[in-house]
Amino acid sequence: MNWTTGNLRRAKLRIMSDPELKGMLVRSGWNEIVFDLDGDGAADVSFLDENGDGNIDTVAIDMTGSGEFNLYLHDSDDNGIPDTILWADDGAPELEVLAMGEGVERGLIKVGAKVYSRLIAEDFLNDEVHVSLGEMSDYLKSNLSELIEEVQKVIDSAGIEKVAYFIENAETYYLATVDGDQPRVRPFGTILVYDGKLYIQTGKSKDVSKQIAANPKVELCAFKEGVWLRVAGELVNDDSKDVKMTMLDKYPALQNMYSAEDDNTQVLYFKDATATFSSFTAQPEIIKL
Ligand SMILES: Cc1cc2nc3c(=O)[nH]c(=O)nc-3n(C[C@H](O)[C@H](O)[C@H](O)COP(=O)(O)O)c2cc1C
Repeated sequence: MNWTTGNLRRAKLRIMSDPELKGMLVRSGWNEIVFDLDGDGAADVSFLDENGDGNIDTVAIDMTGSGEFNLYLHDSDDNGIPDTILWADDGAPELEVLAMGEGVERGLIKVGAKVYSRLIAEDFLNDEVHVSLGEMSDYLKSNLSELIEEVQKVIDSAGIEKVAYFIENAETYYLATVDGDQPRVRPFGTILVYDGKLYIQTGKSKDVSKQIAANPKVELCAFKEGVWLRVAGELVNDDSKDVKMTMLDKYPALQNMYSAEDDNTQVLYFKDATATFSSFTAQPEIIKL
């Protein structure tokens, strides 16, 4: 099984904008996102940031319907593959190790702020297996794996939301185009996530639009509170009326100048783009769009 780690904050932003996922949310704490997948009022699965680095590293699952999480899939090295599988008896704070990947010597297993168990691999590796891995994976396959995958997909797509959210808060970004051998730049503000893609809006009569038609490579830059974001990639024209209407709904002031039916309004989305968040204090964060 391979579940991809994701950034917890981005996942929360994405979940908040998705009514279906939001409906399944039990709570969203500083280091966890907890879902009730079957709507029975009890938590079924929790995505946790155990080591507090902002990334999800553990999926905790209630396998028995007891209301307690009893299966923990833990990715101790943040590589997207769980290397520690832990099973806890109902109600018992002790966790038994079912499997542990190479290089894991110690795992500190917590739920919220509560430390449940400290594990030292050598002591537990050959211990009796409480539930076979086969049984567990069968259970996951038939019960929860699809839903976990669904949630995971959402987490994976959360990067684009972070980019749009940052631009919305910065309010103005600067869009650079290429005009022959001359770079051109101007302020822009429109940004929209639609159908998993990042869109901007302009008018076909503008020079900026003509430059993009001749050479779709662009880069934008936005800055807020010590962090700057650059998105570099190609823009693709999209003549769909739906996305134009959604864009104009989002920016009602544009409706004085543009409509989804005119020949001028243009929306374009980023293709093969790289978004980079930079600051003087942290390592750059790169998100592929
Ligand atoms: C804050 C701000 C936001 C703007 N946002 C947009 C935008 O989203 N789309 C757009 O086409 N023009 C926008 N404009 C206007 C463009 O900057 C302006 O039309 C510019 O001249 C277009 O570039 P060009 O002259 O190279 O065609 C904005 C202007 C300002 C001041």
